[in-house]
Amino acid sequence: MEIIARIDVLREALKNRQGIAFVPTMGNLHEGHLDLVSAAKKQGQYVVVSIFINPLQFGAGEDLEKYPRTLEQDCRLLANAGADIVFTPSVETLFPTAQQFHVDPPPVANELCGAARPGHFRGVATIVLKLFNIVQPETALFGKKDFQQLHIIRLMTAQLNLPVIIIPVETRRAEDGLALSSRNGYLSPTERAEAPRLYQNLEKICRQLSSGGKDLHLLESSAVMDLSSHGWKVDYISIRHADTLQPATPEDRQMVVLGAARLGATRLIDNLEICI
Ligand code: PAF
Repeated sequence: MEIIARIDVLREALKNRQGIAFVPTMGNLHEGHLDLVSAAKKQGQYVVVSIFINPLQFGAGEDLEKYPRTLEQDCRLLANAGADIVFTPSVETLFPTAQQFHVDPPPVANELCGAARPGHFRGVATIVLKLFNIVQPETALFGKKDFQQLHIIRLMTAQLNLPVIIIPVETRRAEDGLALSSRNGYLSPTERAEAPRLYQNLEKICRQLSSGGKDLHLLESSAVMDLSSHGWKVDYISIRHADTLQPATPEDRQMVVLGAARLGATRLIDNLEICI
């Protein structure tokens, strides 16, 4: 496995290479990231993983400074997982001058996580487009845990006619249901024990939808009440149409139940898809 920090060196290494699968990450890798690499390997692709903590997608007062940086460990994990190249650009490499061109995502980027994190998806879309232009992959893999991010990247890829196939990969969970995330490392032992409640509430909503629950607002607000009564600060619990991410109607069959809430200083997100 090669570790490459420069764009020109990466381009040279990828010259004439067909069938590149790209896994963009911000590092501090866990099993969920490694699932993306294995999914790419299974398709027989040449796997390029990027590790870059993108300042454009962090708002003021967010965790950009304290975001875990574990490059050596990440590279060991990626070598074991069979990645071919790890691209580790510096901020100066990707932003030699302040970024003045941005991807302006559609209004859905201002809802759900976008409502609590203004500009977040503009930053995500901009860096992903830059990385796609640098790596020029055939496929790119994204975890479903960041369901709204996946939705926006798919829209961007379709509407800007990018020649990249977006492949979604299932969320990896701990045994108690907590979705794996680099931010789980911020949780204290007590918070870690409480953390699966977000998933449990999403699961409960899915069960109620499956057994004919039609009052979507009641389902959402019951989950908000349960989480709040256990000390969470809830950003949203929302039942949406799985394809459009528009608020679901009781007639919808393909839905996704999404949630984001803070436990102490840590913001956790999760979602579950349901087809009824
Ligand atoms: O999901 C992430 O880790 C990031 O948002 C991404 C896609 C690597 C862009 O910085």
